Amino acid sequence: MMPNPPELASGASAEAARDVAREAAFDARIAAGESIEPKDWMPERYRKQLIRMMSQHAHSEVVGMLPEGNWITRAPSLRRKMSLIAKVQDEGGHGLYIYCGTETLGVDRHDLVEQLLNGTAKYSSIFNYPTLSWADMGVIGWLVDGAAIVNQTILAKTSYGPYARAMIRICKEENFHKRQGYEIVATLAKGTPAQRAMVQDSVNRFWWPSLMMFGPSDTNSPNSGELRRWKVKRKTNDELRQRFVNLTIPQVQAVGLTVPDPDLAYNATTEDWEFGAIDWAEFNEVVRGNGPCNRERIAARRAAHDNGQWVRAAATAHAEKQAQNKTEAA
Ligand SMILES: [Fe+2]
Ligand SMILES: [Fe+2]
Repeated sequence: MMPNPPELASGASAEAARDVAREAAFDARIAAGESIEPKDWMPERYRKQLIRMMSQHAHSEVVGMLPEGNWITRAPSLRRKMSLIAKVQDEGGHGLYIYCGTETLGVDRHDLVEQLLNGTAKYSSIFNYPTLSWADMGVIGWLVDGAAIVNQTILAKTSYGPYARAMIRICKEENFHKRQGYEIVATLAKGTPAQRAMVQDSVNRFWWPSLMMFGPSDTNSPNSGELRRWKVKRKTNDELRQRFVNLTIPQVQAVGLTVPDPDLAYNATTEDWEFGAIDWAEFNEVVRGNGPCNRERIAARRAAHDNGQWVRAAATAHAEKQAQNKTEAA
């Protein structure tokens, strides 16, 4: 029997009322500081925003292996080579771990990887810059992993449980990355004039892109308000950027280097290191796919994906065979 229109309308409005009640309960849980778990009800938009953020994060870890992987064969000693290999491997692990976390939101990793490879998903803009010298391995560990730690320490308190727990584990490894990077920087900074020049040049190239890692300014960050309300983000991009600068400038001074910012000044009242204007036009170009290495990075990921096809085919065949064996045994 076809329901008549009034019945339809009342059914729809009852469903809408249920959604309002569910959303109110969800907001109350967020306000109480509870963490949201995969099987809990959540607004569709919350789920979508988390999938976007977490998959971008996972992609960044994986693409982030490329600029440093480039230097493994050229590390200056066995010790440096071992720690660089371990770091790059850690980043791959972070990517896989966060892909798993994203899958708890009901998406398939295959689709996420597809989005990265076809250019519809974003990843951190910093990895589209080239690594031109050995000093870049130190500066990336120090500044890039350092910026990631500032971001991820706050994300460890994010409202979505699987993401928060992933961050706690990942931050422990990021701290090692930062330390090994800073040790490389400190060694070069007290080395020969050529080594000093090499590490200063690297800081000059990576300083501003590191500040851009925190994303657009608060006045121009479309997703920020909603993400803060849901306690997905607990600090704004500008707050995190300022915290990074405040933490990093004393480290720059400790090794006798400088940052390429003539406007940098300490404000004794706010206790902040105030910095000059960020070149957002450059940031937007890199995000749009026109940075120095965007095409190279995606080409490398596509090649890696194609080269791994036989592994995926073998794993699928093995799983099918096992399933078949189980059916036959039953
Ligand atoms: Fe990482
Ligand atoms: Fe790292």
